[in-house]
This record gives sequence, C-alpha cells and structure tokens, in this order.
Amino acid sequence: MCGIVGFVGKREASPILIEGLSKLEYRGYDSAGVAILDGDKLNVTKCKGRLANLEDKLETTPLKGCVGIGHTRWATHGEPSDLNSHPHTTEDGTISVVHNGIIENYIHLREWLMTKGYNFASETDTEVIPHLVDYFYDGDLTDAVMKAVAKMEGSYAIGVVCSKEPDKVVAVRKDSPLIVGLGKEESFIASDIPAILNHTRDIYLLNDKEFVVMTKDGVKLLSEEGEEIKRDIYHVTWNADAAEKGGFEHFMIKEIHEQPKVIKDTMTSRIMPGKPVTLDDIKITKEQIENIDKIYIVACGTAYHAGVVGKYVIEKLARIPVEIEVASEFRYRDPIINERTLMMVISQSGETADTLAALREAKKQGARVIAVTNVVGSSVSREADDVLYTWAGPEIAVASTKAYVTQLIAMYMIALFFAENKKTISEETIDQIKKEMLTLPEKAEKVLENKETIQKFTAKTYMHKDMFFLGRGLDYAVAMEGSLKLKEISYIHSEAYAGGELKHGPIALIEKGTIVIAGATQEDLFDKMVSNIKEVKTRGANVLGITCEGHDEIEKTVDSALYIPKVMDILSPVVSVIPLQLLSYYMAIQKGCDVDKPRNLAKSVTVE
Ligand code: M6R
Repeated sequence: MCGIVGFVGKREASPILIEGLSKLEYRGYDSAGVAILDGDKLNVTKCKGRLANLEDKLETTPLKGCVGIGHTRWATHGEPSDLNSHPHTTEDGTISVVHNGIIENYIHLREWLMTKGYNFASETDTEVIPHLVDYFYDGDLTDAVMKAVAKMEGSYAIGVVCSKEPDKVVAVRKDSPLIVGLGKEESFIASDIPAILNHTRDIYLLNDKEFVVMTKDGVKLLSEEGEEIKRDIYHVTWNADAAEKGGFEHFMIKEIHEQPKVIKDTMTSRIMPGKPVTLDDIKITKEQIENIDKIYIVACGTAYHAGVVGKYVIEKLARIPVEIEVASEFRYRDPIINERTLMMVISQSGETADTLAALREAKKQGARVIAVTNVVGSSVSREADDVLYTWAGPEIAVASTKAYVTQLIAMYMIALFFAENKKTISEETIDQIKKEMLTLPEKAEKVLENKETIQKFTAKTYMHKDMFFLGRGLDYAVAMEGSLKLKEISYIHSEAYAGGELKHGPIALIEKGTIVIAGATQEDLFDKMVSNIKEVKTRGANVLGITCEGHDEIEKTVDSALYIPKVMDILSPVVSVIPLQLLSYYMAIQKGCDVDKPRNLAKSVTVE
C-alpha cells in the first residue's frame, strides 16, 4: 500500500522522485506528491489522482532542489483527495513526511497532540507523524524522528525532511518495506528496488526499527538505540529492463509472456533428472522432514491459489497432511500448531501484512517456517527458517501472473524434495515428473502462440456481467485463480466452483447464455467433467472448454474448445492457467479497463 521515495544528491530531486514514483505506482495510485528542499525552503506539491496529474502540476510550477521525498498513495484512512495526499506537513511548513503503512494508535496521538496545540488538516493517520516530529524537535531531526517513532504503533516506512536541516532525509521502517540505494555522491530510499534501479544497483536492506540518515556526505544506518549499524551491500543483479514494459502495451501481458522463461529460471539447477532436488536455502534435515505430522500453507489471493495446488501435490507425492488457509483468517483462529507442524507461507512480495503476521504466529508457537517468495531480502524471507525463492523477476502488474506459475513450480519442487527424503514414491516416478517439468517452458510457449481462440471468445462475451469457472481436482484450483484474475482487472463478477458441487445450489444461476469456462485437463476426471459441462449446457450455458490436445470429443459438448499441450495431470495447472490469464486480460482490454492499475487495488497489501 503506497510507495515512498527519497533522494539526496547534487542533481535536481524532482525528476528523480517522479521517475521513482512511476515505478511504484503499482503500490497505489489514488494521489501523489513530493516535498523538496530548496535551500532552507520546503516546497510541497501534491494532488488527487494519478501521478500524471502531479507531473502536470510540476510542469506548470517546477520545484527546485536536490533533497526531497515523494509518495504515491493507496488510501486507507481518509478518501483520496488533495488534502489527504502525502507528503503531510507541519502548519509552519518546516517538516514534511511520507508514509507507507498504518499508525494504529493515531487517534490517541492525534488527541494528545491537539492538547499540545497542534491542528490537523487531513483525515489521515499519517498526519500525526510530522506533528510528533515537530513536538520532539530540538535541533536534531534524527533524534526527533526516533522519539516520534517510539510513540507510534502499527506499520510504517517513513521519509522525513526538515527545512532546518536542509541537506538531510531521515527514514525508518517497521513492517513496511524500505530499501536504501547507494549512488555516487547521492543516495535514495524507496519502497521497492525498481524505483531506484536506473541510478544504482547497490542497496542496503533494512530490518525493522532501523533508521537511515541520508546527507550529501553519505548514508548512516542507526539502531533504535542510536548506535551505528554496519551492513553489507546487496548488489542487484537483474536489469532495469526487467521492470519495463519492453514493447508490450501493459505490464500484465508482458509478464504473461515471460512465463516460459521464469518457469525455466525457477527450475534451473534445482531440478535435474537422476539427481536429488537441490533447494539451496532450505536447510530442513531428513529427520526433521520425517518428524512433520502436518503442514499449513498460508497465503493470500493468487499466492493462496498456488497453495491450493501445493496441498494437492504435497499430499499426493509426499503423503503429509496439508491444510491450506488464507492468512487473514489463520492468524485469528487459534490454529493447532506445535514443533511437528511445518508452516509454509507463499508471498510474491514477501511483505503482505497478513501473511507476515501468520508466519510470526506460527514461529511463536514453535513451528518451523518455509517461505516461498519472489523478493530477496523481503520480510518473510528474513523471518522464515528456510526460504525458496521463485525467480519470476520483478512483477509490476497488480494482477499476479508470472509469480503464480513460479509458485506452482516451487510447490512441485518442495513436494518432490519431501518425497525423495521420505521415499514415498519410486525414483522412476520422481524422475518422470522431473523430466516432464523440464518440458513446461516449451508447453507454456505453445499456449501463448494460440491466443486467437481466447481473443475471439472475449470479443463475443465481454459485455456479460457474470461468468462461472468450473473444474475438478487441480482444474478447480486453477478455476479459482482464473476467476480472481477476471474479477480484479475486468470487474466482471465471477465464481469458481468444483464441477461436482454446482448442482448443490449454484446451478440455479445458470440460464440461457450464461458464460461458463470449464477446465477438463485431468485425465482421470475428464468424463466426470464432461457430465458437469452437459449439466450446464442443458440449462442454456455458453461454454468454453479447456482440455488437453487429443480430447477433440469435447467439441460435441462445448460451444468453443481450447486445447493445451498434453501434460502430466499434476503439472497441468502451470499450462492451463495461461489461457485464463489471457482471457481476463482480453476481457479487460475489450471493456477498456486500466489493466495494470485496476480500481481499488494495490500490488502489495502491507496493511491488515
Ligand atoms: O505479495 P503476495 O503474494 O503476498 O500478495 C498476495 C495477494 O495480495 C496477491 O496475490 C493479489 O491477490 C493479486 N492482486 C492477485 O492477482
């Protein structure tokens, strides 16, 4: 939620902050603003709407200066408006703050500050921060920020500037992401790496409650006790291009097309037929694996859907019972956890607040935690006992696509790793799965070459208000993901149902012309699924059937058929999800929706 940037150097801050914010717009885009120091004068420009509105304002009235902070907002407290947009500034215009997170005790702080004579202009929780810093300010900005932070509860990544110390940005994080970029005679803060990648590849990863003081002389990291911290530099190896559209119209379609590559990258040097699965940062021993009596997989949204597939394959291959749960429910329901429980969290960003809280809860109760994440150095990667990185590269589109397929690959690798350790399936079967996994990039490529059926189908159906996704077994897991994709970017209401469950109620909604997208890729369940398709066809549904090559008989039952390359049943989600991603993309395009910035959403949900 929200993206923040900060800059100190010799160059003009304004274009650097705007460029950084443009790379963070995926985190929120309902208002934006900057505060820039021009000598000892602090100038703030901010407004409701997309970053383009702010750029227009800055073009008319440019802000000069080489030190500044910027913000792009996803509203939590207070509607999107000019007043509620960041930076928030003290009444005397000396201290400005950008913030990502939620100050949970802001009401109490606000009331207390009002008794001290402070007035509030916005409805935000953030506005307490500049006032608190001002209250504690006694000639030392770092000290004042430290004292202010000591009063704050909740989550925050903040950047602070003060006109009385005009060469400085002070920042701190707790439960919200923040990195520091180290350039030549310049430094940066940002919520995410792409925001600064055009300027530097050397960064510091920050832990909770670590403070950053950036001046023209360099960067200092301080603990909450004020002691200087030495930190190794993390060198970013991926290219800035990876976070650009690269000739595609939207990030989402670019990321859909990157899937063959990222599937391959995630398997490279980990899956080799004839050799054990190699998962570098997973240190769990054979004895510990044998001791596990239950696995919880906990995640949100698309990552949760990858977990649904994970449950199926881990139980099938490694014979360990798996419970899958959404993180926001898990943390509040007193789950049964002990030292024999293994917790697995899946999170593209590694910063999702609910997932992080579930991880902490499980650790507190003695479980070992494996994190599957796409972001090196993210909070979940640092707090888990073991980490498995998905090598999807930066995912910018709000709708997750390439991260999902790499999360699926992670699930297969973990299932095989456990199966090898527990010897639950034969070496021949393990090898057969590995060989087939290595064909997945090519198969994904083939699906991408065959977009026409999807485009034709969406052109005829995009005006519908409701759609249904059906599937059995792993096709049901994929149906859930297809339904989420469609909802989030095209705003078409949709539901995913297990094929056999429909007749227990939802079939009442099927009438003439109702759109049904039915997955039938599972060999063992094909005939059963065809029967379910017939049930909806009889009631007038217009059905798009997705099955494997060789099952042409489906054409007798459905209105349109789409074939994916033949693939082993357990691996089919990696391939069969791609037509559903394309379907939601083209539906959204037909409807003229803003694909990369769907309404009300943000890429990383770092608040509860
Ligand atoms: O970063 P995470 O994987 O933890 O994010 C989880 C969900 O917020 C995310 O998958 C969300 O559902 C996406 N918008 C789905 O496309």
